[in-house]
Amino acid sequence: MNEAATELLNRLRDIAPNIIIKKDATELISDVDIELLTAYIVKQYKDEKGLVVLDKNKLSSIIESIKSSKPERVEVLNKSYRAEASEIEAEYKIYNTKDSYCNATANDFVSYFRSRLFKIRDKILRNNLEIRNELVNINSIDNYASGRTFVTAGIIRDKRDTKNGNITITIEDETGSINAIIPMNRGNTELEKDARYLVNDEVIAVKGKLISKDLLLVSNIYFPDTSVKNKRSEDDIYIGFLSDIHVGSKLFLEKNFRAFLSWLNSKDENSISGKIKYLVISGDLVDGIGVYPEQERELSIADIYLQYRYLFDLLSDVPDYIHIFLAPGNHDAVALAEPQPPLPEDIIREFKNAADNISILPNPMYISVHKFNLVGYHGASIDSMIKSIPGLSYDKPAEVMLQLLRKRHLSPVYGMNPVIPSAEDNLVMEIDPDIFHTGHIHKNDFATHKGSILINSGTWQAKTIYQIKLGHNPTPCNFYAYGLKNNNLVSMDFSGEYR
Ligand SMILES: [Fe+2]
Repeated sequence: MNEAATELLNRLRDIAPNIIIKKDATELISDVDIELLTAYIVKQYKDEKGLVVLDKNKLSSIIESIKSSKPERVEVLNKSYRAEASEIEAEYKIYNTKDSYCNATANDFVSYFRSRLFKIRDKILRNNLEIRNELVNINSIDNYASGRTFVTAGIIRDKRDTKNGNITITIEDETGSINAIIPMNRGNTELEKDARYLVNDEVIAVKGKLISKDLLLVSNIYFPDTSVKNKRSEDDIYIGFLSDIHVGSKLFLEKNFRAFLSWLNSKDENSISGKIKYLVISGDLVDGIGVYPEQERELSIADIYLQYRYLFDLLSDVPDYIHIFLAPGNHDAVALAEPQPPLPEDIIREFKNAADNISILPNPMYISVHKFNLVGYHGASIDSMIKSIPGLSYDKPAEVMLQLLRKRHLSPVYGMNPVIPSAEDNLVMEIDPDIFHTGHIHKNDFATHKGSILINSGTWQAKTIYQIKLGHNPTPCNFYAYGLKNNNLVSMDFSGEYR
């Protein structure tokens, strides 16, 4: 028996001992990627009860299906056609430089929140011309007489509704804390609207009048927010957005995803396929193992390495002139707490060696592409934002993203989704994003805000029973791409043909 066949038998013995290969079929096993072949066999026969015997016929049809699964290149009559994006050099920068870690001591928490305060107050809020000269530390107020107006900034330690319908917040900086009352139902709609969006642990500035020794009556709320000038690239190229592919789940819509890959390879000069220069993939690349109780029942590939092997086989069909930025999500094989590290070396080694058109990044990723700043974040905090702010919903993720952007923090409410309280808070959006991308809740949506485009790229997984129970409304197989020359967001629907 040849070496490759022995390796395949060993793998199957470990992962799926009910699958055996007939001796005369083993001669077919040469010149085949064994890890991939294992993934295909396991995916196809995992659910069969009892012993599965693969003879020559069955094995050759699996090997054939691996080969034939490669996307077709659709030719056009114009033989001189070349994808526009293939003529253009990839031009990008990656800003993620530091790993996040902590020992979970009290000091770590103090450093973490101070870092959040200093970054947002001193680097962002202080640039707001309206307040920069008035901003004072909270302990300065000790010397102020009642009736004085001033601006201060801090972290919201506590937000509560009062009996008479107003909102009270306690804000804190490194020098002290103060209570502030926000009058509601007085017709000051902007202030009231802003107040409803406040959440614990975010950093804001407030303007108001001191009405007693330690009580401020708020007249204005200032979010750090963002504002960018519309950029346009000379090159007519697009960034494509993917998330929540969930390879390994029985509900992964593989045929639709392959249809998307075929389109990406199609030489159709009337479509934008040849203009896609980048793919940003923000998490839930695979379905993972043990992410929720009894998940194994919903898996078509119940081995984490094989799930990634299958994913990378799919991604190997992305044309090599397209640069891929790949980051994990809560289903991936990395620690759950954010910032999540990039996928580990043992998972990516083989793929990375085969392809230099990929950047394996943490979640969140902070990058720039042809001078467009881009924040890619899987989106775990979208859940905590919806729980914390009445009116936000799973049907409109872009509205949630807009609030994250205004707060300039990817997970402002501490303690509702796992976050690493490291000495430096790396979830502050220090760059002004031209493009802000998330996934996680499987619902396509977009919005614009002060020059930024906000995109949730949906999913390639069909609706799960868990989502049905939660009343979620996923929109599988809608691909969004954003044009850097024309600032157009293009939506391509791959959901129909194969459902
Ligand atoms: Fe997901």
